Amino acid sequence: MRYDEAKLAEYFSQAPEDVSLADIDMARIPGHVSIIMDGNGRWAQARGLDRSRGHVAGVDSLREAVTTSVRLGLDVLSVYAFSTENWKRPQEEVNMLMHLFATTLLHELPLFHQENVRLRFFGDLEALPEETRKVFQQGLDETAANTGMTFALAVNYGSRAELARAARVLAQRVQDGELDASAIDENALASELYTAGLPDPDLLIRTSGELRLSNYLLWQLAYTEFYVTPTLWPDFSRWEFLRAIKSFQGRKRRFGGVVNS
Ligand code: FPP
Repeated sequence: MRYDEAKLAEYFSQAPEDVSLADIDMARIPGHVSIIMDGNGRWAQARGLDRSRGHVAGVDSLREAVTTSVRLGLDVLSVYAFSTENWKRPQEEVNMLMHLFATTLLHELPLFHQENVRLRFFGDLEALPEETRKVFQQGLDETAANTGMTFALAVNYGSRAELARAARVLAQRVQDGELDASAIDENALASELYTAGLPDPDLLIRTSGELRLSNYLLWQLAYTEFYVTPTLWPDFSRWEFLRAIKSFQGRKRRFGGVVNS
């Protein structure tokens, strides 16, 4: 994806000591970065605040992550906003998050237009409250004509459920005589996932130091590079993003093969 050099330099001026734009090879920016945004609750608790304040602070980090991704010229930024397991949280927190998703998306629509960002969702959206679903649809409709970066949000997403659903759809097609079982290959399965059409992530960032996948993109992350930072999501800045890209660019990706160097 193209990027604006002047805006990029301005955005990353005032660098901290350990990382700057000069460390980054702009010819090797990952196309798709995915983020497990974790640590909102701990960030709030450490300040004696209600967990919900952590989620509100997390919105600012997310806005900055979107802008950073556009400045760097990513094709896709995806984020894990709500998992199928997150329904187990206190009802009050679930309601708060659903409302926050809706109000945030509405509020950020002008930013998405300004930055030419197209929205996309992945997950089982049927189970979401009507207000949230309506706003998501509005966001999809209003950004459909944008041609820049895709910003994809995983909401009510669970990777095992996604894979089971894809298997069900393919099995039904076989049963209906539309598909031969021998034609079920990796592409056929991938095309029935919620993420169909999106490239697999090149880089997965997880904040707050947890070393697990939490049922996120189990299929799609097969060859993805991981970057885990102890930074809690509300403290995640453009500089932490740059550190992740720098680390990514220091890796040798072999995709199971060998690299000659
Ligand atoms: C994880 O922190 C965060 C979430 C489950 C929600 C993510 C939501 C936001 C960043 C708000 C904005 C989002 C959108 C899509 C508008 P946690 O609560 O699990 O933190 P903890 O592990 O410290 O308890």
